Amino acid sequence: MTTTQELTRRPSPWDTGRYDAQFGYVSRLAGGVVELLAPQPGETVLDLGCGTGELAEVIRARGAAVVLVDSDPEMVVAASTRLQQAATLADGHDFRVTTPVDAVFSNAALHWMTRPDEVVRAVRAALRPGGRFVAEMGGARNVAGIIDALRRALAERGLAAGMRVPWYFPEPAEYAALLEANGFRVKLIEHFSRPTDLDDCPEGVVDWLRMFGSALTEHVPGADREDVLRRAGELAAPELLRDGRWYADYWRLRFVATAEGAGR
Ligand code: BEZ
Repeated sequence: MTTTQELTRRPSPWDTGRYDAQFGYVSRLAGGVVELLAPQPGETVLDLGCGTGELAEVIRARGAAVVLVDSDPEMVVAASTRLQQAATLADGHDFRVTTPVDAVFSNAALHWMTRPDEVVRAVRAALRPGGRFVAEMGGARNVAGIIDALRRALAERGLAAGMRVPWYFPEPAEYAALLEANGFRVKLIEHFSRPTDLDDCPEGVVDWLRMFGSALTEHVPGADREDVLRRAGELAAPELLRDGRWYADYWRLRFVATAEGAGR
């Protein structure tokens, strides 16, 4: 189990101010998944990977109590400041709760958790029987154009082999099977393309890579990194720059699943 101390020792890759300013769409576009959650007054919803807490605030405004969980210390501070309540620093692979919750909600966080069987088991254990797991994450083909452009930019320098993709973007059938194998009944699962404009990012895909892609270029000598990112932007432009607007080629996986029987 990852301890809170271990998590706080890791440097945070997140610049929370920039995240809200340039990537506010992460929460803006998540209205549909909050509607699927349909939070009810009096229930308790755990937001797994709550980030800066924007969606938890929306959920709480609907009358539900929220439990805030994130594995990044800066996000924990940002969320607890926004909501004026404690947030827990914990890893989604092995978080625990003392009292089972009515729902676990997650937006744009599960794809960062690369051992999904552990995550699904931890979510199941956190839910009361009948409780729901409602989430949106990157699905198969997510940001494939961005990753491909970066891979080609790295290949030009003989560095493509060292690129490590830090995300898990499953096919819907794969994720549904995982849920069903771990005590959930899948009520709905959707996989759809959602090209997302990067209007708040002056350098488009290059800004996206600066914010989210540091793990992809960890092996690149620091002095070369910016050149590689700019070249990736050039290579991505034919696909992802349209009429002067940059897009990220997002594919979303969205699901509602309910916890069957006893989870612990
Ligand atoms: C996403 O929301 O799909 C995403 C965000 C950051 C990195 C990778 C994927």
